[in-house]
Amino acid sequence: MSILAHPSVARNAAAAAEVQGYSDSLIETATRYREAAVLFAALELGLFRRLAERAGDPPDVESLANAAGWRELPLRLLLETLAAMGVVARVAGGRYTVAAQVSELLEAERMDEWLLSNKRQNQIWLELPEMIRGTYQGEGFYETLVETPLMGNYLQSIGQTNAEAASATARLIRQRRPDLCDSLDVGAGHGLFSQRILESYPQARATLFDLPHSLDVGRANLNEAGLAERCEFVYGDARALNLDVQFDLVMLNDLLHYFDRASKAELLDLACRHVRAGGLLAVCKIAFDEKDPAPAFDPAMISLRFHINTQSGYLEGDGELAALFADAGLSPVECLRLSTFKTLLLGRVAA
Ligand SMILES: C[S@@+](CC[C@H](N)C(=O)[O-])C[C@H]1O[C@@H](n2cnc3c(N)ncnc32)[C@H](O)[C@@H]1O
Repeated sequence: MSILAHPSVARNAAAAAEVQGYSDSLIETATRYREAAVLFAALELGLFRRLAERAGDPPDVESLANAAGWRELPLRLLLETLAAMGVVARVAGGRYTVAAQVSELLEAERMDEWLLSNKRQNQIWLELPEMIRGTYQGEGFYETLVETPLMGNYLQSIGQTNAEAASATARLIRQRRPDLCDSLDVGAGHGLFSQRILESYPQARATLFDLPHSLDVGRANLNEAGLAERCEFVYGDARALNLDVQFDLVMLNDLLHYFDRASKAELLDLACRHVRAGGLLAVCKIAFDEKDPAPAFDPAMISLRFHINTQSGYLEGDGELAALFADAGLSPVECLRLSTFKTLLLGRVAA
């Protein structure tokens, strides 16, 4: 079977059927990097922007190449591949323009930079054998990401993913603590969990704690929601949390997966010290039920991603975290599955 007929270049069911029998799935997995490399090349060259600027008069390859001082043949091959991927559209006369849905996406602030940051991540992922051998010397991706404004793009997508979980968390906390006065949101990020708490308790105040670039995103969102006046915004590293004040509720949502087991336990201890007697500690996390042999959603790749990106973290199991809650002295501990993707752990500090 010719490599030209390989499933990764078969664009429809009939073409794919023709190559049935080819030993495909491992080869397909091993060669999927090509599409990512094509996308990175287009982003790095600023190709989408150049095409978008010429939307009224789409350029042909020759004029694009001449204007930028690029080589015409590889540029043509790149454009043809982008067209086959559906991110660029061919128009009459051998001209090209950006596909409509791509130009909308690229209008989002820093989206091209955010997509391109995956190129750096790819380079780190290729070092996985060295990480397992214990000989990897480089840094993780996450530690550089948290220090850049690209955190805004990361948090925006997390905010969208966690919107329903934030509403469910506020509802379940309200059922258990209808009299809550204040809350602390550690690793608040986009701030949506604090926002839902403030909306559920019109008299309550919220403190949002995070690293600078992330907290600035949360501050802007709460400002936009008209709730910033009921908030304190505190910059800091969760591992050095020491606010000298206690709260009815402390949340550590989607934060523990960046840390190893010992650090998870230390963070829980620190957080518990900030909970008033009778108050609640809450962790809304990516679901990982260690007892389910066939989960509808497999968290293995997510856990590996956290590890590669941080060089120490991993996605803790829901049961593992419930045990860490108990070790921190919380009782009772509730482990509530909110959806296929999210679990909420709630633990009470003794009254
Ligand atoms: C995945 S986001 C979660 C945002 C929000 N809590 C949620 O559940 O949707 C992780 C957040 O943890 C913050 N974070 C990561 N490491 C931190 C640290 N060492 N100290 C404080 N915040 C940290 C990040 O800046 C980011 O805002």
